[in-house]
Amino acid sequence: MELTSFIHLSVSFMSSWALRHVADLEIVNHIKAYGGPMPLHELARSIPIPPEKDFALDSLMEFLVHQRVFAKCEGGYLLTPISELMLNEGANMGAFVCLATESAPQHLFFTSKWFKDTGKSTVFQLAHNGKQPWEVQKEKPELGNLFNDAMASHSKESVRIIVATYPEIFDGINNLVDVGGGTGSTVKIIADSFPDLRCTVFDLPHVVDNSLNNDSISVVGGDMFDKIPPADAILLKTVLHDWSDEDCVRILKKCKEAIDSTINNGKVIVVEIVLDAETDDSKETETKLIYNLCLMFQFGGKERTKKEWHDLILGAGYSDYKIYPARMPLYSVIELYP
Ligand SMILES: C[S@@+](CC[C@H](N)C(=O)[O-])C[C@H]1O[C@@H](n2cnc3c(N)ncnc32)[C@H](O)[C@@H]1O
Repeated sequence: MELTSFIHLSVSFMSSWALRHVADLEIVNHIKAYGGPMPLHELARSIPIPPEKDFALDSLMEFLVHQRVFAKCEGGYLLTPISELMLNEGANMGAFVCLATESAPQHLFFTSKWFKDTGKSTVFQLAHNGKQPWEVQKEKPELGNLFNDAMASHSKESVRIIVATYPEIFDGINNLVDVGGGTGSTVKIIADSFPDLRCTVFDLPHVVDNSLNNDSISVVGGDMFDKIPPADAILLKTVLHDWSDEDCVRILKKCKEAIDSTINNGKVIVVEIVLDAETDDSKETETKLIYNLCLMFQFGGKERTKKEWHDLILGAGYSDYKIYPARMPLYSVIELYP
C-alpha cells in the first residue's frame, strides 16, 4: 500500500501530461465532431497519427478513461463532463493544462535551492534572474498569451457559475472595475448578464485588450499598486492569491480608495479559494493544497484559510466582510465592505 502510494506520487506528473497530450492532439474536438462513440482507429486517423502509433493512443485513452476524462462503450470513446471543459465552444480549458505543464517545470528545479536560500526571492525569481512572472510574460509574448488564455478559459467556466448562482452580488451597483481582469473574459460575461452595469477591465498596459472598448465595457491599462479607476464595486478575481499578505493589504487599500464613498453599497468582490471551506471533499482539499504550492513557488503568493482572510481584510481597514456559502467548485465569493 505504501509502495503504491509512493510510486503514485512519484509519477503523478503523467496525469498532467496525459491531459496536455489531449489538448495538443485536440482529441476532445475530434470526438465531439464525430458525433457519437468514436472507435480508436477513427480517432487515430482524424488526429491524424500514423497507424504504428495506434497502440500508444490506445494506452493514453485507457488511462484517461480510468481518470474519467473520457468514457468508453462498445462503439468507442465518449466525452465526459471533464473533457467537455476542453471543447472549443465551451470553456476551452486546454490552455490551462498547457500553461501548467509549460511554465512550472522551468522554475520547480530551483525549489530546494530556494528553501535553503535566505533571500526574499520567489522560486520563480531564482530561476529567472530575479524577474517576476509578469515581467517574463511581457518579454515573452507567447508565454503571456498562454497565461492570458489559461486565465480566460478558467474565467469562462467560473464566472458563468457566479452570475447564475450569486446574481444578488451585482444588485444596486452601476459600475464595476475588474482589477487584474486580464483580457476581459470576465467582464464580457458580466456585461452580457447585466446590461445596465457599466464594466471596466483594468490590468497592466501590455495585457489589456483595447479592442473590447464599447458602450458597456471600458478598458484601462495601469498598475493596481498605483491607482485604480473609481467604481461602485471592484472585482478581484484570483488576483490576491498571487501576492504576499503585505502586498494584498496595499492592493486592498487602493481598492478602498477607489470605491465611491457617496453610495451605500460600495464593495470589493473577491473570488478566491478559502482553504478550510466546510463543504470541501478530499479531492477539493487536495486540489487547493496543490494550488497553494503552485502559487507560493511561482508568485510568492498563497491560498488562505478563513482566519487568514479575516486578518487580511480587517488589516487593510475594511469595516466588515461576508463569505458567501460555497456554491461553486474550489472558489468562494467574499464581499468586503469599506
Ligand atoms: C491570476 S491572473 C487573474 C486574471 C483574472 N482576474 C482571472 O480571474 O482570469 C492575475 C492578473 O493580475 C494582473 N496583474 C499583475 N500585476 C498587476 C498590476 N500591478 N496591476 C494590474 N494588474 C496586474 C495580471 O496581468 C493578471 O491578468
